[in-house]
Amino acid sequence: MVKVNDNYLKLPGSYLFSTVGRKQREYQAAHPEAKVIRLSIGDVTQPLAPAILDALHKAVDEMGKAETFRGYAPDLGYEFLRNVIADQDYKAKGCDISADEIFVSDGAKSDSANIQEIFSLDNKIAVGDPVYPVYVDSNAMAGRTGSYDKNTETWSNVIYMPCTAANHFAPEIPKETPDLIYLCFPNNPTGATVNKAQLQEWVDYANKVGAVIIYDAAYEAYISEPDVPHSIYECEGARTCAIELRSFSKNAGFTGVRLGFTVVPKDLKAEGVALHGLWARRHGTKYNGAPYIIQRAGEAVYSPEGREQLKKQVAYYMNNAKYIYDGLKEAGYTVSGGVNAPYIWLETPNGMTSWEFFDYLLEHANVVGTPGSGFGPSGEHYFRLTAFGSYENTVEAVDRIKAMKI
Ligand code: MLT
Repeated sequence: MVKVNDNYLKLPGSYLFSTVGRKQREYQAAHPEAKVIRLSIGDVTQPLAPAILDALHKAVDEMGKAETFRGYAPDLGYEFLRNVIADQDYKAKGCDISADEIFVSDGAKSDSANIQEIFSLDNKIAVGDPVYPVYVDSNAMAGRTGSYDKNTETWSNVIYMPCTAANHFAPEIPKETPDLIYLCFPNNPTGATVNKAQLQEWVDYANKVGAVIIYDAAYEAYISEPDVPHSIYECEGARTCAIELRSFSKNAGFTGVRLGFTVVPKDLKAEGVALHGLWARRHGTKYNGAPYIIQRAGEAVYSPEGREQLKKQVAYYMNNAKYIYDGLKEAGYTVSGGVNAPYIWLETPNGMTSWEFFDYLLEHANVVGTPGSGFGPSGEHYFRLTAFGSYENTVEAVDRIKAMKI
């Protein structure tokens, strides 16, 4: 008789953002008059930039003519896209990454969930706590995380690296040696960053103990401070220990368009096996490539007009981030993030749990945010707000929060 993958049965609840979305819908159904403002999931609200739209239109027209029609995309992605990525994201920044080390995909969420497949189930993962839930859930689905303890909200076979106010929400090298280390900077959910020297310590450590770092740089476009690395490959030795994930969702508004890429350097080996070959094998077998139209849109992100327009879009969201940060501070909240990242991380007032504050905020300000505890136990008593709303909604949400009694 058929059996299910019972690792799925060990997963607690539903995916964090599904729960948040369901609670919002339930509240809205019960209070149809409420103008609920969503500052929860990091979903963009600004329309696609003109340079991207032009590229999309052009590519759609090409698909309508026999001479320019394209079928399956090349396994790794079109060269026109991989070349601009290698040149502008890496070579221009002094990082030794070539186009054939770049794998184009439909986004960093799926890559961050899928990358664990090329590693043995015997590997032990280390994650920041709080953390983007996909890293842990995908390893749980694969059967790598042991058993789940409802009381501590932790998995028995995961190394948690607490990110707290005491360490400025940046994980410290754990006592127990991990095999796979997930790092995300600028960080989701806390908005924290590390400087280049701190990231170099991770690279040196991973090379020393033979671990691999999965480096999620989805928010790199939001970096505003000079000493914050945009790529892990800015660090010496990263080619032999790190895989980097990038997204077009946040820097170019592609959350609904879908495009990302993963970098697997050819020097990166485990047990003498090149991981590049394994990921290429996986990609070739399980994925048919991001659509031509979308890859052309991705190319436009790197054009002079695209870059200029997107710089403005990022500045728009960062202006929201500043408004939230300043507004909450003024209202007496303890806040961080929002300087190199589109997320503001705040301490819940009066010792409320994260979910209590979620309900309170929804009811008293009609604002939806994301409970910190949904990202891990060290996120308890914290709360995340996103800067990806419209400016008008952001201002209104902050004004409502300021007016709310706590
Ligand atoms: C988030 O809100 O944490 C992100 O939007 C989720 C994602 O990018 O998948």
